Amino acid sequence: MTEIDVWTEKYRPDTLSEVVGQEKIVDRLTSFVEEDSIPHLMFAGPAGTGKTTCAMSLAQDLYGDSWRQNFMETNASDERGIDVVRERIKDFARTKPVNADYKIIFLDEADALTQDAQQALRRTMEQFSDNCRFILSCNYSSKIIDPIQSRCAVFRFNRLDDEDVEKYITRIAENEGFKISREAIDAVLRVSGGDLRRVTNVLQTASMTEDKIEEEDIYGASASLKPDETEEILEKALKGDFIDARGHLADIMIERGLDGQDVINAIHTKAEPLISR
Ligand SMILES: Nc1ncnc2c1ncn2[C@@H]1O[C@H](COP(=O)(O)OP(=O)(O)OP(=O)(O)O)[C@@H](O)[C@H]1O
Ligand SMILES: [Mg+2]
Repeated sequence: MTEIDVWTEKYRPDTLSEVVGQEKIVDRLTSFVEEDSIPHLMFAGPAGTGKTTCAMSLAQDLYGDSWRQNFMETNASDERGIDVVRERIKDFARTKPVNADYKIIFLDEADALTQDAQQALRRTMEQFSDNCRFILSCNYSSKIIDPIQSRCAVFRFNRLDDEDVEKYITRIAENEGFKISREAIDAVLRVSGGDLRRVTNVLQTASMTEDKIEEEDIYGASASLKPDETEEILEKALKGDFIDARGHLADIMIERGLDGQDVINAIHTKAEPLISR
């Protein structure tokens, strides 16, 4: 069986200079690399905005070819518990860094840890801070206990803006040799909400069946309602035609495999300009 490339890996930058947007963050991380002095870091922000990418790129810029020996990525909230995570950290920290003074441990989903687990993590960070730097990744920094936050330089990642997302789309389209209409690009901007993982996955799915990607293909590939469908259903329901609106929605959900969250997201996107008026 031939393996298909997973575009989210294929297009993941492997150096900080290729990271899209997040300029202030990239600048500071680059100067850490130049000075060869990295504090503990905390990356906070929404999905698909470059937290894991920046951690991996930083490690590659810092360590060059020996980055894999000096960099460990692990999920802080491993379902088997914080003790398993701490064991893994201990194992990795036990051996010497290769051609470097310290190793980097990247802990994903740190905000899913309970307060007690975070206390345990803090002790582990202290225990190994001689030869390890920690990068904690989370969606919400407010869920991280103060004693950890105060030990880290905190970086806030933003959703990518339309201009950056569009450049990313164009780069992938040129490289993969498919065409994409203006309407389809706008649809990608709409359904992705500045999440580049979502952008990449939607494009990969849509391009499997089409050489020229149109708006329809994006909605088909992205598990989301089209704006005019959402409007039609909302209007029906608001006019009192609730059963009919529900039937229509159910048909679309089954046809396109949408779940409740997809529908709520679509309604929220549609209603947002009305609410903020
Ligand atoms: N700023 C960025 N520059 C370039 N590519 C990016 C950027 N942000 C995300 N991507 C792309 O999107 C995908 C996911 O990115 P990444 O793993 O860094 O997200 P994340 O912020 O760690 O998300 P999560 O919170 O879900 O872990 C990767 O393929 C990556 O190439
Ligand atoms: Mg990540």
